[in-house]
Amino acid sequence: MKKQIATLILAALPVFGFAAEKVVPQYEMQSVNIDLTDKEALQDGARTFVNYCMGCHGAQFQRYERVAKDIGIPENLMMENLVFTGAKIGDHMKSSMAPADAKAWFGQVPPDLTLVARVRGTDWLYNYMHSFYEDPSRPLGANNVVFPNVGMPNVLAALQGSQTVGCAQAAKLDEKGKKVYDTFGQLVTEERCDQLVIPKKGLLTESEFDTKVKNLVTFLAYSADPNKLESQRIGTYVLLFLAFFFIFAYALKREYWRDVH
Ligand code: HEC
Repeated sequence: MKKQIATLILAALPVFGFAAEKVVPQYEMQSVNIDLTDKEALQDGARTFVNYCMGCHGAQFQRYERVAKDIGIPENLMMENLVFTGAKIGDHMKSSMAPADAKAWFGQVPPDLTLVARVRGTDWLYNYMHSFYEDPSRPLGANNVVFPNVGMPNVLAALQGSQTVGCAQAAKLDEKGKKVYDTFGQLVTEERCDQLVIPKKGLLTESEFDTKVKNLVTFLAYSADPNKLESQRIGTYVLLFLAFFFIFAYALKREYWRDVH
């Protein structure tokens, strides 16, 4: 009897093994060049953040007032367009979702995002927001390439279009995962079914979506280090002062040493 059970389990293993094997879509990591002095990008990023992220995430070490000042939004416009939670201008940017509800709905409490750009880096964030895809086996129907089995739904799907794993013409890869080139140096392509495709376009074109995400990442990078711009400005003055001070220090040194020689 024991033997029979063991055989049964053994026979069933490949079936489970097969079922568990999922296609991990090919995704080429991209890097993003953000500009923290670009006020327009920061404002657009802030708008995306309050509209699409703050339902679940907070930026609780940031105050609306400070953000408005730093990124150049007049306070009244900030209140009218970017503050939805009934908060006051001097309040911290907290999400209105109760952590206990969040835990029940998503299995995870959405982490605070004030410092996420420091923890994860801007490139990671950029790729994270690009690589959500439909995956019916997940509770919320979404998965992510850079954060496998993520608990967050694909919140930008309406803008990007619902990305899914499908077949498309793509670069042929060798066993090591490197792109294959022919003798003329041309990229060899083939039909591959582990590609991220967008069968139904979203509200934005691909390049508009790239910019949207880049702006959002710019805002998150600012939020993680709001003093960076200020430090750079002050740094310049400090260096100028030192250069200026050097002249007097040098003159004083000459004065002292004149008597020594
Ligand atoms: C419907 C709720 C919800 C919304 C809206 C949402 N998220 Fe999330 N997010 C989550 C949850 C839940 C997690 C935790 C996922 C996990 O740990 O598996 C998460 C995780 C993340 C992480 C990973 C944090 C880390 O370091 O582990 C980032 C980054 C993130 N979200 C960014 C965003 C951004 C940017 C937006 C807005 C465009 C957004 N989220 C909107 C629910 C949400």
